[in-house]
Amino acid sequence: MKQVSYIAILMLLVSSCHSQADKTKDVKVGGGCEGCEAIFEYGDKELLTVDTLPNFQETEPKLKISGTVFQKDGKTPAENVIIYIYHTNRDGLYEMKGDEEGWAKRHGYIRGWVKTGKDGKYTFYTFRPAAYPNEPVQEHIHMTIKEPKFNKYYIDEIVFDDDPLLTDNERKKLLNRCGSGIVVPKMINGIWIVERDIVLGLNIPAYP
Ligand SMILES: [Fe+2]
Repeated sequence: MKQVSYIAILMLLVSSCHSQADKTKDVKVGGGCEGCEAIFEYGDKELLTVDTLPNFQETEPKLKISGTVFQKDGKTPAENVIIYIYHTNRDGLYEMKGDEEGWAKRHGYIRGWVKTGKDGKYTFYTFRPAAYPNEPVQEHIHMTIKEPKFNKYYIDEIVFDDDPLLTDNERKKLLNRCGSGIVVPKMINGIWIVERDIVLGLNIPAYP
């Protein structure tokens, strides 16, 4: 009888561990995310810590975005995190060539991907986007991330501190997902330099 209860307890433990593991696997962090699937649309491109977006060479003003991805503690660099960005052209439009497939039909072709290394650092070379032509929305760069443990989720867009459309009211609306997306651009050697660090899970719903 005693042996039977030991076996029953053991089975209970095994099954509860199993369901715990399944729960972690199925956890959906960050809420809904329309278009986040685009983070997987890099095709056969090898993901590095640095990426240069299309039209960088011929477009002004140029922009260099750098940052470090940290674990939730805000200190430990996070490795193997994929970051996807896309933004408008200088006319404020998500530019198409006409042969786009998948989410490029919405995001356009001005987009890029990186994957962090051991030090968590990443860099994108691109140009400053422009605000939408017919809406008073501040210029912005969309960002989606995929860390190894969890599903993809979007984080606060990069927005520019010197943008007149980034009013106090707009600043109040920002959610600070993975930290603030407000960057302070500095012009150095003819290129705007900005830094956007990312703290995984910060202000992300359902993040354990
Ligand atoms: Fe947008």
